[in-house]
Amino acid sequence: MNVGYNEIQKELESCGQGHLLGFWEVLDAGQRERLLGQIRGLDLRHIPRWVRETVKNECPPAVPHEFDPAPSYPPRPQTAEQEQLYAKARKTGEDLLRAGKVAGFVVAGGQGTRLGFDGPKGGYPISPIRNKPLFQLFAETVEAARRKYGAVLPWLVMTSPLNHAATVEFFEAADYFGLGADTVFLFQQGTLPNFDFDGRIFLAEKDTLAVSPDGHGGSLKALHASGVLERLKHRGVEYISYWQVDNPLVNLFDPLFIGLHAMEGAGMSSKALIKAHPTEKVGNFCLVDGRVTVIEYSDLDKEHAHRTHPDGSLVFELGSIAIHILSVSFVERLNAEDDFALPLHRAVKKIPHIDAKGNKVEPDKPCGVKLETFIFDALPLSEKSVILQTIRSEEFAPVKNATGADSAEVTVRMMIERAATWLEAAGVEVPRTAEGRPDCVLEIAPGFALAPEDLKARAGQIPPIERGQKLYLG
Ligand code: UD1
Repeated sequence: MNVGYNEIQKELESCGQGHLLGFWEVLDAGQRERLLGQIRGLDLRHIPRWVRETVKNECPPAVPHEFDPAPSYPPRPQTAEQEQLYAKARKTGEDLLRAGKVAGFVVAGGQGTRLGFDGPKGGYPISPIRNKPLFQLFAETVEAARRKYGAVLPWLVMTSPLNHAATVEFFEAADYFGLGADTVFLFQQGTLPNFDFDGRIFLAEKDTLAVSPDGHGGSLKALHASGVLERLKHRGVEYISYWQVDNPLVNLFDPLFIGLHAMEGAGMSSKALIKAHPTEKVGNFCLVDGRVTVIEYSDLDKEHAHRTHPDGSLVFELGSIAIHILSVSFVERLNAEDDFALPLHRAVKKIPHIDAKGNKVEPDKPCGVKLETFIFDALPLSEKSVILQTIRSEEFAPVKNATGADSAEVTVRMMIERAATWLEAAGVEVPRTAEGRPDCVLEIAPGFALAPEDLKARAGQIPPIERGQKLYLG
C-alpha cells in the first residue's frame, strides 16, 4: 500500500471527503499515485470552510452596508489642470513603454461555452475583412506596439487545463505570429474542485477528481506559481496590462492609463464605462471604506442601481469592463502573504461525474457547485487604485454570444464603426447610409495604425472610399 495512503485517508475523513478513495481497491499502482497526487494538490485545511461558506450557502456574501460611488478620471481632460495631468501621464506611460517596463496579459482560460465555438476562444475569427482570429489581432497589436516604442514588450497568455494544449498548438501553428516564442509566455491557471450540493467533491473518474479552472482571479496566483512574475522582474517589467480574450477593441498598451496608474503609485487600476442603463450586466465600481471595490450587478440593490443625480445621471454609473493595470510589486506582495486567497464565488452547474457505483453521469440539469475567483476582488487589496473612464465605441466590443447582444455580428459592426470614426478624424471621407452607418466594410490592421493619431500621419496613403467597398488597411 502506498506510504501516503493512511495519512491522506484520515485527513479526507476528517473533512468529509473520505469517498474520494472509494475505488482504491480497484485502482492499479499508477492510478493510485495519480489520485493521491491530485488529493495532495488540494488544500484540505480549507475544504470545510469552503463547503460551509460557499458550497452550501446559497446566499451570496453580504454587500457592505455603506458604500459610495468610486471617483474616476473622465475619458478626456475637462479642465486646464486635467489637460496638464493627462499630458504628463501620457508621457510617463510612453516612457515606461519605451523602457520595456510593461507587459501585456490576456486571460484566456475560459471555455467560451456561450459562443459555441470549438477550440480556444482566442482562435475565434472576428476581423471584418481578413477574418483574423482574436489572438492574431492581439499579436499584431503587440508587434506594432513593440515597433512604435522600440522595446520588446512581453505578452502573457493565461490558459487553463481545459484549453492549454489547444492554445499552445494554435500559437505553434502560427509560429507565435512572428513575435518570438521566448517573449510570449503561455501559462496555466489553477483549478478548484467541483462539489455536489452536500459538499462532497465529485470524482470525474475512479482515479480523477472533478475540477474546473479557478476563475480569472486565479491569474494572480498563476503569475507567481508559473514563474512568469520572476521572469518579468528579470526583464525589468514593472506593470502588467490586463485584458479579456473576448474584446478585440481593447487598447492593449494605453500610455495614458499606464501613466496615471504609475504616477499615482497604484497597485491595481481599472478602466470603466458609463453604464448603458441602471442594471447593465457589468460590475459597479464603488468605494467601500475608502477602497475601490466592484459590486456585481446581481448584488447591487434596485435603489442604488437606479439612484440618480439631479441632472438625471446615475450615481453608480461606472461599469467594469475587465481592463486593468497591475503593478508587478502588487502581485508579488499578494503572493508573499501566507495563504493569499480571493473570495470564492459559487456557480451552480451541470457537472459530469461518476456515481458511488462508478457509473458515469452526464447530468441534464445542474447538480453541483463550481467555485471561482474574480480578478476584481483584488481591487480593495490595493491601497491606491485609479479608475479611468473610456468610451464604449472606442474600446469595448466583447464577443460572448452566438447571436444577439455581445455577438460577433455586433462586434464586427463596432470594429467597422471605430475604423470609420478614426478615418474621419484623419480627414478621410467615409460613405454612410441614411441612418448614419458606414456604407462600406473597413478593417484597419494594428500594424497600420494603433490609434487615431497614427492614422492621421498616414491619411495621405488612403485612397477615396467608395460606397459598398471593402477596404483593408494593412
Ligand atoms: C466578465 C465580468 C464582468 C465584465 C465583463 C466584461 C465576471 C464575473 N464578470 O463577464 O464584470 O463586465 O466580463 O466583458 O468576470 N477566464 C479565465 N479563466 C477562468 C474564467 C474566465 O481566463 O477560469 C477568462 C475568459 O477566458 C475571458 C474572461 O476571463 O477572457 C471573462 O470570462 P467570462 O466568463 O466570459 O466573463 P463574463 O461573464 O463575460
